[in-house]
Amino acid sequence: MSILYDEQNRMFKLDTVHTTYMIGLSEEGYVGHVYYGRRLEGFWGKYLLRMQETPFTPAVNKREKNSFLDYFPMEYPTGGIGDYRESCLNVRNERGSVGSEIFYESHTIRKGKPVLAGLPAAFGGEEEVQTLVIICADALLGLKVSLSYSVFEKEDVITRSISMQNDGAERLRLEKAYSACLDMDNQEFEMLSLCGSWARERYIQRNKLCPGRQLMSSVKGESSHQEHPFIALVTPETTQETGEVYAMNFVYSGNFIAQAEITQFDRVRMVMGIHGEDFCWNLAPGESFQTPEAVMTYSDCGLGKMSRSFHDFYREHMIRSPYKYRKRPVLINNWEATYFDFDTEKLLAIAKEAKKNGIEMLVMDDGWFGKRSWDDSSLGDWTVNEEKLKGGFPNLVKQVRKLGMEFGIWFEPEMISPDSELYRKHPDWAIQIAGREAGQSRAQYVLDLSRKEVRDYAYECVAKILRSAPISYVKWDMNRQLSDMGSACLLPEAQGELFHRYVLGLYEMQERLVTEFPELLLENCSGGGARFDPGMLYYSPQIWCSDDTDAIERLRIQEGTGLVYPLSAIGAHVSDCPNHIVCRTTPFETRGNVALAGTFGYELDITKIPEADRELIPKQVELYHKYSGLIQTGDYYRISSWTDKKPLDCWEVAAKDGSHALVTCVNVLGRPNVRSIRIRLHGLRALSLYRLEGTEEAYRGEELSSCGFLVRDLNEDFKSRLYHFICED
Ligand code: GLA
Repeated sequence: MSILYDEQNRMFKLDTVHTTYMIGLSEEGYVGHVYYGRRLEGFWGKYLLRMQETPFTPAVNKREKNSFLDYFPMEYPTGGIGDYRESCLNVRNERGSVGSEIFYESHTIRKGKPVLAGLPAAFGGEEEVQTLVIICADALLGLKVSLSYSVFEKEDVITRSISMQNDGAERLRLEKAYSACLDMDNQEFEMLSLCGSWARERYIQRNKLCPGRQLMSSVKGESSHQEHPFIALVTPETTQETGEVYAMNFVYSGNFIAQAEITQFDRVRMVMGIHGEDFCWNLAPGESFQTPEAVMTYSDCGLGKMSRSFHDFYREHMIRSPYKYRKRPVLINNWEATYFDFDTEKLLAIAKEAKKNGIEMLVMDDGWFGKRSWDDSSLGDWTVNEEKLKGGFPNLVKQVRKLGMEFGIWFEPEMISPDSELYRKHPDWAIQIAGREAGQSRAQYVLDLSRKEVRDYAYECVAKILRSAPISYVKWDMNRQLSDMGSACLLPEAQGELFHRYVLGLYEMQERLVTEFPELLLENCSGGGARFDPGMLYYSPQIWCSDDTDAIERLRIQEGTGLVYPLSAIGAHVSDCPNHIVCRTTPFETRGNVALAGTFGYELDITKIPEADRELIPKQVELYHKYSGLIQTGDYYRISSWTDKKPLDCWEVAAKDGSHALVTCVNVLGRPNVRSIRIRLHGLRALSLYRLEGTEEAYRGEELSSCGFLVRDLNEDFKSRLYHFICED
């Protein structure tokens, strides 16, 4: 059993292979956090609740209740009653006051994990996960608050979520309902986060945690390019292989907060949930609310272990697609090749040349519908533009398939252009505040997905096209943030529900899509990588990582993304040079080697690129076929990093059984007179002999991991190399 209850001490113990999480109940029934860290074999540590630090305990001295509440390590702190740290739950009652206080009532422990209605969430069989639900109540409000903890033993992950049920007689209003809290002693923590911008997503950032609150958040209606729903607190000495790491990631694609604070007592509170700004949820008697899920992992051997725990967990317990471990077809996308300027002829010319070079699928990007010849019209009018696609759409698909290729297509179903038939007919379908002209972004508005008729319309547009021809792949894009939050249909007191209702609407649409088209390969996208989050992984096994396809820029973007997400989920393409975003020219080979650390595909006009580049494509495709299985399923190790100002950016993927490993090295900036650089490998069998493919060189596993391997003569800027080590016994 990975979840135990000690009746006598009123403590819960949640064990994974390497970690233990402990919860203790106070005399009054406050649910307190005892311990999270290295695995413990017995029940210890209840003293960490510090109940004996009188006179603060309310049971002993009511006079000091506020001091107690501001100090006690809470599993789920409630607002308005004297805990001045960040609260996780704010409830306004019918008389307008905010205040709630929850006490333990009962608990259940079961095998498996229930689904979270309407939300993406981790899943697992009865042998893989166990779930503890601690049921608490606020008797005055009649509010039941259930704290769920699902323990994924093998992956060292615990997921948390909360459900609220109004069992009372009054109408309640949730004004904040986070998903997880972790109260700990400070260990000189540093906070690791991922941040950036369009074309520069998920750069790794690490800063000392200071007194006060430090946060990553989004109020943009999506998980965003700028700040990411992930934070980790790490001890100062933390490297890839050493140090303690407490990490949280949010299974949600809308507004979020991920925050850590150091309190006056040098304690730390770490929280995660839907952002409280512009959020409310009305709970009439009998109604309930379910928060999204937060994923937690702890590592006492550095960041590398954290990444591998997340990767295994997302691959096994979040991604549902049949493509999870299936080889994805090598695609060519026409966006950077043609932008909006294409027709059947051009697409077929690209497809023909692509096929000759081993590419397996053509993806037709933005611009095939309505009157869309630029980005300022037609979103919402999902009828094929037959002036561009002469002979019609099914004919194009047929022609492409006749070449022996699969066909994929781009949609942006959540949007509406002011210049569209749809907007002229249904202006109220756009999210907007009555009487105020809504702001445009990329000349578009956002559809009000809280409305069923809007979702049905948008879904049917996509489904109708998919039913009209054999389509293997959909790129589901979303190219602006939300603003001007108003729905023509919600009551005034429910307008604050719109952000969350929007995300629920999106999930409902994607659920319908993967249910009706179970064999579809879905790739989510949002102006590049603004919605690269675990919520999206529940629907699509891969997500477009960034509109920046420059190989060097991608090193940082993919390193940050790979810190949390498996390489099999990272959409990565080889594009033409000079790169369209940064104008940099890199060797074609390096572009290929970097894209191999993702889903791999092309995004260029193959009929126009230099002959010498085109000639490399069949070889690259061959490498993809050779390594894709390893990259999809193997263990990822970050060896050295350009982000850390190391000249060599280097990572390794090792087969779980140690049978082989692929090392990729990219020399970003050449350093004169550096003849060789030593790198140390991981995940190999110590005493086995590994041959470096294509050479006579052979090394013992322990040699490669301790003495290291010498990368020689990789001096030129942007040059890269792959090293494949194969176990001989
Ligand atoms: C977004 C995507 C791109 C492309 C364009 C089309 O920016 O990230 O890959 O599909 O939209 O408009």
